[in-house]
Amino acid sequence: MNAVPAAVIILAAGEGTRMKSSTPKVLHRIGGLSLVGHAIRAARETQAQFVEVVVRHEREQVVEFCTGFDPDLVVADQDEVRGTGRAVECGLDALPADLEGTVLVTYGDVPLLSGETLRDLVAAHAASGSVASVVTAHVPNPTGYGRIVRASDGGVERIVEQKDAAEHELAITEINSGIYAFDAAVLREALGQVGTANAQGEKYLTDVVEIASRAGHRVSAHVIDDLWQTEGVNDRVQLAALGKVLNQRICERHMRNGVTIVDPATTWIDTDVSIGQDTTILPFTELLGATSIGAGASIGPLVSLVDTEVGDGAKVVRAECVLAEIGAEASVGPFSYLRPGTVLGAKGKIGGFVETKNADIGPGAKVPHLTYAGDVTIGEGANIGAGTIFANYDGIAKHHTTIGKHSFIGSDTVIVAPVDVGDGAYVAAGSALTKDVEPGEIAVARGQQRNVDGWVARARAGTKTDAAARAAREAGARHTDSSATGGEASAQ
Ligand code: UD1
Ligand code: CA
Repeated sequence: MNAVPAAVIILAAGEGTRMKSSTPKVLHRIGGLSLVGHAIRAARETQAQFVEVVVRHEREQVVEFCTGFDPDLVVADQDEVRGTGRAVECGLDALPADLEGTVLVTYGDVPLLSGETLRDLVAAHAASGSVASVVTAHVPNPTGYGRIVRASDGGVERIVEQKDAAEHELAITEINSGIYAFDAAVLREALGQVGTANAQGEKYLTDVVEIASRAGHRVSAHVIDDLWQTEGVNDRVQLAALGKVLNQRICERHMRNGVTIVDPATTWIDTDVSIGQDTTILPFTELLGATSIGAGASIGPLVSLVDTEVGDGAKVVRAECVLAEIGAEASVGPFSYLRPGTVLGAKGKIGGFVETKNADIGPGAKVPHLTYAGDVTIGEGANIGAGTIFANYDGIAKHHTTIGKHSFIGSDTVIVAPVDVGDGAYVAAGSALTKDVEPGEIAVARGQQRNVDGWVARARAGTKTDAAARAAREAGARHTDSSATGGEASAQ
């Protein structure tokens, strides 16, 4: 059955004091998305014409997030009358007065409820011909929840809140999840009759059930087994518990799609991350935000990727990468820090103890060891020697450096930006480069080597060093200097 509800009303006006937070409860996040964001997504999966949030507490912050997340959302303000019934009433008031059909009610703090469950609810509601269907669950410990009082025909007669329940009602273990499907007209009509004569002095949405069933309408229970889907977040202990369950579900989804996750318990993957088939995720790895990973890649151990794109067959080990792009079959790590604007070409390499920022590193280019590369374009196949520093900041402004294709920067070079090194050029190890280098040139920007004969004998007479030098000379071994000008070799 493909029934579509007219509206989904998401209640998010409550206070959430137990979070002890300056952030509104529904804006706390699990799986990289706020609680209300999860609720909005599930609601959208029903294809409902209207999706609405009801707000009051910390209204501005909640509305700002919700409308940014989903610009088509309807926002309704709850007034000073308290209770879930009043919240829904205010919600209906902000929707077209002639709205007909099925209205779903969900909570902004119940993040694991799936769109699929909502669609099942709508289908069951339509099939049963009920005016109201309540999602219920049988739980071992029903304390705190509204209890479902069944009618003799198996329908629902009423829902009694914990604080209003008699002894025998407290023994009921079927609970109200707070998620419902209603016929819009019946809901509107019944809410008009709901009072506040209860233990909390609130307008209870649950009273609609009793009003409807007394009027002779059918009210059904839609029992679900997956209890996590009805769990709300009231404090940070529950936030962590639900976050862990969500993560486990996300990991399972990827594993079923052909991703190897060696240790799901230490792998944290946000809701929106995509991972290709035959990729392996090693322990202690976080894949966050809008990260996407290709097929046949290997990520981890100890990798954090935030909003990072990784190509097919790439390998990332012990690295922190933020807003970076890592090409196909490229390799990163161990101990690398890729900051925003890092683009590593296919088969390129960013090795150990390398930090990059706004660095466009061409295909097959290598930055293998101990380098800072900021504001730089490195051409295809270039090799940056160990310990090279791109000095991009002069204390006032940042400057850009370009290294040409297949060029070779000797180890321990500092490149004082802005500098252009052409294609196919060399820079001698230990250079402090301040001027451009043309294609085919070698730049040597350091002091010449000078050997002073007999210095040890004069300045360090009588030391072990002096004795060693004498012995070596006496043995006829001539101390030869390797070279006065060479040394272009890079560490590999
Ligand atoms: C409610 C139900 C209870 C059910 C439980 C499931 C009622 C009277 N009781 O109880 O039967 O077992 O949920 O979790 O409905 N909210 C508003 N405006 C308000 C009050 C609440 O928008 O004035 C929102 C809250 O932000 C929250 C949701 O409604 O998202 C539920 O509110 P909460 O106070 O947690 O309801 P419970 O008392 O737990
Ligand atoms: Ca609650």
